[in-house]
Amino acid sequence: MPSVITPTIDIHLSGDDLRRALEQDVRTGLTSEPKQLPPVYFYDDRGSRLFDEITRLPEYYPTRSERSILDAHAKDIVMGCDADVLVELGAGTCDKSRVLLDAMQSNGRLSRFVPLDVSDTVLWEAATALSEEYPGLAVTAVVGDFHHHLDRLPADGRRLFAFLGGTIGNLDPAQRRGFYAELTRAMTSDDRLLLGTDLVKDRSRLISAYDDAAGVTSEFNRNVLHVLNRELGADFDPTRFEHVARWNEDDQRIEMWLRSTGDQRIRIASLDLDLDFRDGEEMMTEISTKFSPDALEAELEQNGLMVESMWPSSGDEFLLTVARPR
Ligand code: SAH
Ligand code: TRP
Repeated sequence: MPSVITPTIDIHLSGDDLRRALEQDVRTGLTSEPKQLPPVYFYDDRGSRLFDEITRLPEYYPTRSERSILDAHAKDIVMGCDADVLVELGAGTCDKSRVLLDAMQSNGRLSRFVPLDVSDTVLWEAATALSEEYPGLAVTAVVGDFHHHLDRLPADGRRLFAFLGGTIGNLDPAQRRGFYAELTRAMTSDDRLLLGTDLVKDRSRLISAYDDAAGVTSEFNRNVLHVLNRELGADFDPTRFEHVARWNEDDQRIEMWLRSTGDQRIRIASLDLDLDFRDGEEMMTEISTKFSPDALEAELEQNGLMVESMWPSSGDEFLLTVARPR
């Protein structure tokens, strides 16, 4: 039995970096029309726990659906990629990583796991648990931003870059192009991408996945206001903002907004910024783009990635795609 290897953590994003980015993003986002905030700030410790709760909600099908594809096909997916290193972008609690790690282990090819996330506490807990569950596995956790730090990942071995959970859909088209450019620059011709995307489907089913009856998604959405209060000395009253989830047909995406109840003036002390919200004014906090397999394949090909295989869930709810750099 190989012994447990102590995990390491590479920090490419310090508290200071995050804070500087937060200050800049908040100033730009909240002074534009309509107001908006980038989604990365949802995921402080509380936000990461709330997201974990979302993944278990009855209405939130994407996690279960993606997991069912992995349960059925991880061995074939991994066999085709022949990788010995699993890199996971936006890994979070690394729940689904275990299915891929098991498949790689049973192929006898597993040497290293590299989970990357901005949320350091959750990442570290997961990295510690995994190195104990998989004796002999080197776990190199990376605290970083998948928009900026892909070139700093360990480069040894044949790598499978997993980007699961439909997180790619949280990027707008320009951000996705930037992401693919960074990714294909970082990948060698032996590396593979395993991409999880949610598929277009019945609108009411989509909406309820982002507006659950128990109100967890609403709490998650408003968590970003708690983050701004804590980090930037803002004085948002989160109870005076309503969670709104809406389908945007033109852009084929769910949009999450926060709607002001009443006219209010918010002060953001660290930015020396005063903001007015009109009654009913909405601020955009997140998009979740839904794809069709054809549109996704075209997008990947336009961005230097060739599709090798596609693995839809039963009922075509969710899709896993394996692609390689051209
Ligand atoms: N892969 C997991 C988690 C998805 S939630 C799953 O499929 O369930 C999105 C994850 O991406 C969160 O853990 C969040 O902290 C992380 N994340 C969001 N923006 C990020 C960024 N710019 N760089 C790195 N990680 C990011
Ligand atoms: N990647 C997840 C998704 O698009 C993120 C997510 C789920 C999310 N529910 C949310 C983001 C609610 C903001 C608010 O499905």
